[in-house]
Amino acid sequence: MPYEVKDINLAEQGLRNLEWAEIQMGALLKVRERFAKEQPLKGYRIGMALHVTKETAILVRTLIAGGAEVAIASCNPLSTQDDAAAALASEDVRVYAYKGETREDYYRFIEEVIRFKPHVTIDDGCDLISEIHTKYPELIQDIICGCEETTTGVIRLRAMEQDGALKYPVIAVNDCQTKHLMDNYYGTGQSSLDGVLRASNVLISGNILVVAGYGNCGKGVALRGKGFGANVIVTEVDAFRALQAKMDGFRVMPMAEAAVEGDIFITVTGDLHAISMDHIRTMKDGAILANSGHFDNEVDVRGLEKAASAKRAIRPLFDEYVVDGKRVFLCGEGRLVNLACAEGHPSTVMSLSFCDQALGVEYGIAHRDELEPKVYQLPPEIDQHVAELQLEAMDIRIDELTEEQKKYLSSWQEGT
Ligand code: ADE
Repeated sequence: MPYEVKDINLAEQGLRNLEWAEIQMGALLKVRERFAKEQPLKGYRIGMALHVTKETAILVRTLIAGGAEVAIASCNPLSTQDDAAAALASEDVRVYAYKGETREDYYRFIEEVIRFKPHVTIDDGCDLISEIHTKYPELIQDIICGCEETTTGVIRLRAMEQDGALKYPVIAVNDCQTKHLMDNYYGTGQSSLDGVLRASNVLISGNILVVAGYGNCGKGVALRGKGFGANVIVTEVDAFRALQAKMDGFRVMPMAEAAVEGDIFITVTGDLHAISMDHIRTMKDGAILANSGHFDNEVDVRGLEKAASAKRAIRPLFDEYVVDGKRVFLCGEGRLVNLACAEGHPSTVMSLSFCDQALGVEYGIAHRDELEPKVYQLPPEIDQHVAELQLEAMDIRIDELTEEQKKYLSSWQEGT
């Protein structure tokens, strides 16, 4: 079986990490058990561009248990866990990924997945779908559907749909309630700070943490920053979210003002240059910059590279730049700090996101005749089912509506 990984000898450690991930992914294991019995994916080829982590490996095992064949590349040059990639290769999965991929290898690996002629695509950031649409349109006739994991990918897909450029149906797994709650909020909250800590080991408490963006990810980062004892400032462009941040107890101000005050900056906006060179020039000596949005353009890293009079690596994935005589420190080259500098979201979080992915694939295949080339949400009952699976995995039971309550909720006659 073909594969390209950093070192196949890492497989033993990788398999142990997969075992540890599985212990925390009870909900996904339930899906896997059912898939193994029912074989809903039998005969289908699934091409994936996801972060190649121990958690993703458990999704791969789930899809294979359901009868699929899988090929996987990474969706970010810095996020691969080399031992997890080696573990997958040792299980005869076509895996093309290593941490620190060159741009050429990144796209060559995505091409390997495309050459596998997938019937279903799974993306995190839309690079696989975008490559297929722009360079291999002849393959689209055999593609049933795609699934997309992240906000940035869904934004790109909606733009494709609006332009009439999207040629097969895609399920926006990102938009599930279970994904938003667990992954964007709790996952990004914990793992972003984990990334900053592993890169720098700085004390968060007593520092001013500037969080750019107050979507679900930003809310999680701000909450965890506060929990660590930081004085949190939020910057936003959306009035409602800014108001929410203020009501949640954070200071809110434009980045131009926050830049002067902040000690640690984390961007989670999904947009370009939330931190520009103009902002960086006004920062304190010693400011720490990190990005937790999908692409490495939220901090103007290219501008920083040009403007710096000196640059050196202080420690792995923690670089010092000197700009106008002041030092700024950049975590993980400005790429997703949680995956570049730490291990991404914890396994329990990814269990839910990947239940949504696995059930999204099953849904897309089962409804192939009804779906058009549009962006779809996963039906709410599937989302609810994923929440139920997780409650079951945590051994938590909840109440059920009584007949009387159901009747009350569906009637309009009863008032004061
Ligand atoms: N995205 C964020 N964290 C992740 C993880 N642990 N595995 C795969 N994708 C992720």
